[in-house]
Amino acid sequence: EKGGFDHFMLKEIYEQPEAIKNTMLGRIDLDKNQIDFSQEGLDQKFLEGIQRFYIVACGTSYHAGLVAKYLIERELGLPVEVDIASEFRYRNPILDEKTLFIGISQSGETADTLASLRLAKEKGAKTLSICNVVGSTIARETEVVLYTKAGPEISVASTKAFSTQVLTFVLFTFYLKQLLFGENEKKQKIEALIKLPSQLKIFIEKVHSKVKTLAQKWYQAQNALYLGRNILYPIALEGALKLKEISYIHAEGYAAGEMKHGPIALIEEKVPTVILAAKETGIVYEKTLSNAEEVRSRRGPIISLVTEGAKEFQKISDEYIEVPLTFYEFLPIFYVVPLQLLAYEIATLRGCDVDKPRNLAKSVTVE
Ligand code: F6R
Repeated sequence: EKGGFDHFMLKEIYEQPEAIKNTMLGRIDLDKNQIDFSQEGLDQKFLEGIQRFYIVACGTSYHAGLVAKYLIERELGLPVEVDIASEFRYRNPILDEKTLFIGISQSGETADTLASLRLAKEKGAKTLSICNVVGSTIARETEVVLYTKAGPEISVASTKAFSTQVLTFVLFTFYLKQLLFGENEKKQKIEALIKLPSQLKIFIEKVHSKVKTLAQKWYQAQNALYLGRNILYPIALEGALKLKEISYIHAEGYAAGEMKHGPIALIEEKVPTVILAAKETGIVYEKTLSNAEEVRSRRGPIISLVTEGAKEFQKISDEYIEVPLTFYEFLPIFYVVPLQLLAYEIATLRGCDVDKPRNLAKSVTVE
């Protein structure tokens, strides 16, 4: 059942290329260079009058929502709010019929996300969900559902559900650009999209051995910091969440620029900092580099994940992982993989029950 893997989590990490391929299936028209979600009820009529988005979710799904904020605001120029479901529902969130509420949930059964959806409906918002489990409660209660098609996710720690949620948002953004502004993506980008699964497959296999060696060196750490900016900031949060939930190492994800407002006090020889940076994609590479230098000058070990050929980072890092240079939109899908693997390898070395971490349940149906 684990297909030759020791754990479901590892199997599911390796299933990501196939999973994202399924996410794309039937939703890309190569001849027209377009994305198509109209079969799923997401059309001009449904989107009429929408002026803003409210994305609500929990945990890893919430991180996918944060990625979506960067994508949608950058590509569509429309405002996006993202919130944690257990906060959203006990506040007075401001939304109306001009708001599209988007609930994200792998299971489609998370109590707080479901309650948030019901509240959004009461307030007159239009509703859409991004779910993995077909026919789940959240899927049934939203007007439009976009399935991620990741296949069953057994491991408590979410992996392929996340990458497919992110990809669904990439497709969603491209599609809305067509519908709202009549703008198609460049052929080059659509071609890169099609090649994503095979490129990701090669990357996973290559990066895994590197991550294994790295894990051997760092698995005894008691604290770790994860830093990133822009669309890689939510990936820093996700990397930290993965590590803490399965290896029980205290990890914090932070926006790199926020480091000097507090977490910099934690830095010392025994606290590794994982830094995510990308060149040529418009996500403030230089600023992230100077954050890395700040860590270095306080003797903090640096594990950097950087796009190919970022020599400046190589010089100041203890560990260095290269990520393929790709389009802005596709960065999160590549960067999250070594972080999932790192959490997995470290948890295994620490003898943790990777697929069933203590105190956690796959589907949180209680409040
Ligand atoms: C993290 C994890 C949880 C879930 C969260 C939301 O690895 O699995 O943080 O992401 O409980 O679950 P869904 O997406 O089913 O609503």
